[in-house]
Amino acid sequence: MPTQAAVQAYYGQELTSTADLKTSACCDADGVPDWLRPLLARIHPDVLARYYGCGLVCPPLLEGCRILDLGCGTGRDVYALAQLVGPSGSVVGVDMTAEQLAVAREHLAFHAEQFGYANVSFLEGTIEALEALPLKPGSFDVIVSNCVLNLSTDKAAVLQGVKRLLKPGGELYFSDVYVDRRLPESVRRDPVLYGECLGGALYWNDFLRLAKGAGFPDPRLVSDREIKITEPALAPLVGEARFYAATYRLFQIAELEDACEDHGQAVIYRGTIPQHPHRFDLDGHHAIETGRVFPVCGNSFRMLQATRFAPHFTFIGDFSRHYGLFPGRGNSMPFADVAATKETTGVVDSGSCC
Ligand SMILES: C[S@@+](CC[C@H](N)C(=O)[O-])C[C@H]1O[C@@H](n2cnc3c(N)ncnc32)[C@H](O)[C@@H]1O
Repeated sequence: MPTQAAVQAYYGQELTSTADLKTSACCDADGVPDWLRPLLARIHPDVLARYYGCGLVCPPLLEGCRILDLGCGTGRDVYALAQLVGPSGSVVGVDMTAEQLAVAREHLAFHAEQFGYANVSFLEGTIEALEALPLKPGSFDVIVSNCVLNLSTDKAAVLQGVKRLLKPGGELYFSDVYVDRRLPESVRRDPVLYGECLGGALYWNDFLRLAKGAGFPDPRLVSDREIKITEPALAPLVGEARFYAATYRLFQIAELEDACEDHGQAVIYRGTIPQHPHRFDLDGHHAIETGRVFPVCGNSFRMLQATRFAPHFTFIGDFSRHYGLFPGRGNSMPFADVAATKETTGVVDSGSCC
């Protein structure tokens, strides 16, 4: 497997802008949602030019939150999130590549002036050794990361560090690249495939095992899209393997169970989260319409009741009764472009899990 030094060289010297990427893996083809455009318009062009993310890492309801961005690069997401948390919140970016951080730091004053407040800082370090950085345990509401975990040489250590730094009720909300099978050594060793966020991608079920082993028993898939490898030099190397960019959310809630259990509970969304008056998407399978009694499993109930989302819901039921496994749980491959399904059918599998 390529080393951290090789990854630093790739992002520090080989790539100088998004245009240098050789595949579309580290390049968010989802497009930019309308609400994000004005935020990006306030970010310095040098920062935007070196954006290598694969998804959107801005969950709702961030005002006042303290956020950590793992592998922040030149800081596009940090500076976007800085505007979403506002002056009462803060964002810390961590990256191991000096050249990336130099660009991020060079524009600190520019962004403080643009926003009217300074709530951002950057730290140099590796995300496998977060305990070596001056970050207080249990001090972050949300940890994000965009197209970085696949590059890590010790993914379990990263998740352990995340577990240590999240507040109770906090969440890891991150986009990364996954693959539908375990990749052969020859693919994992290829320096270009690795640098482009493909060679180090986890087989999706190994990611779920890793997350559960790190104390996140019920990872929730928010969105996904397939990454087509069309480059003539790379396509033959990956063969039939199919790659996906996916966004997951992992909640730090001690009581979560390893399966979706049915306690006969339901929630009602009040429609009060800014910019989400009609519907709240907990994940790709829970599109919760305003005012509707929406049956949920015990884990979904807790993901809403034990987090920053609680004031925006009415909770029906408790854990005093149990009715078996919540209906609709499957264990097949999770990626099927849930967003597209949602658009064509309107409602996504209301009440089913995972
Ligand atoms: C694909 S880029 C994504 C950068 C940024 N998140 C973005 O969306 O533009 C990967 C970044 O992760 C950083 N990185 C990779 N492995 C890392 C590690 N183990 N510790 C810290 N940073 C790492 C690289 O230096 C690079 O800046």
